[in-house]
Amino acid sequence: MGPTLDKEKILEENRRVHSLENHLYSARHPEQTNFFQNSLVEKTLDQVCAQLNPEAKVLDLGCGTGYLFLRFLKRGFNVTGLDISNEMIEVINNSISENEEHRAHLIVGDVEKYMDKNQDNFDLIIFSAVLHHLFDYEMVLRKTCKSIKPGTKVLIFFEPLKQEINSTMRYAFHRTLSWLDEKSYRLEMGIRKIPLFENEYHHSDYQRQFGGINPKNVEKILREESFSILKLEKYCARRFGISAWLANRVLQTQNTFNIFAIKT
Ligand SMILES: C[S@@+](CC[C@H](N)C(=O)[O-])C[C@H]1O[C@@H](n2cnc3c(N)ncnc32)[C@H](O)[C@@H]1O
Repeated sequence: MGPTLDKEKILEENRRVHSLENHLYSARHPEQTNFFQNSLVEKTLDQVCAQLNPEAKVLDLGCGTGYLFLRFLKRGFNVTGLDISNEMIEVINNSISENEEHRAHLIVGDVEKYMDKNQDNFDLIIFSAVLHHLFDYEMVLRKTCKSIKPGTKVLIFFEPLKQEINSTMRYAFHRTLSWLDEKSYRLEMGIRKIPLFENEYHHSDYQRQFGGINPKNVEKILREESFSILKLEKYCARRFGISAWLANRVLQTQNTFNIFAIKT
């Protein structure tokens, strides 16, 4: 199978699975909303917003149901969200209050195609949990970095990283905690009758088959495109806040990363 076919299959599956996820998305992804992750998101946004002026224009690529989009909107910014799934965009649309509408812009489309044509001057570009869904994330990231003006910031958030756990003991505890976390999640989803769509996912999380994304590689691309790294954060995301707390505070393992950078 050629690369064009692969890319089209991945786009098509992303469109299809996310149309199923739509209003169920946040219930199915407690790892994004538990108390530990919530406090991490708010802390990150405080740091990012401190670097933006109040009129800043924010672009959220692969905005989903508005995880970061809605937070930036609440903080008073002018926000554009783009997603390949019409159904995910509809969920955001229904979450925007009347007095925020004039600052919210929603587009259905593919990240790569949009960045090819984008002529708008954004002050912050966000990729939250979307790079790992792309066939060639390096190319899309490079293209984005090239197309933007100096002073623009980029926030890469909540991407799965390639794990390195050298101690056998820590690895065993890590696997046990991960197993418990996942078992409890499945039990909760079963009780709440929230479907997991397991037979629907084959290659939409494309980069996961390579173990995730290497933050060193992302850093290299950013530096080569004249970015300076303002913050790199690695941590362990878990379905439940208590598991995330144990993984980060006790085991100190990492499976996720964020990078905040500015084009010089
Ligand atoms: C894991 S969700 C993350 C959503 C949101 N950014 C968040 O952090 O909760 C990934 C999103 O990326 C979108 N997506 C996947 N591939 C895309 C592409 N090529 N162009 C635009 N959006 C895409 C999906 O439809 C989905 O809404």
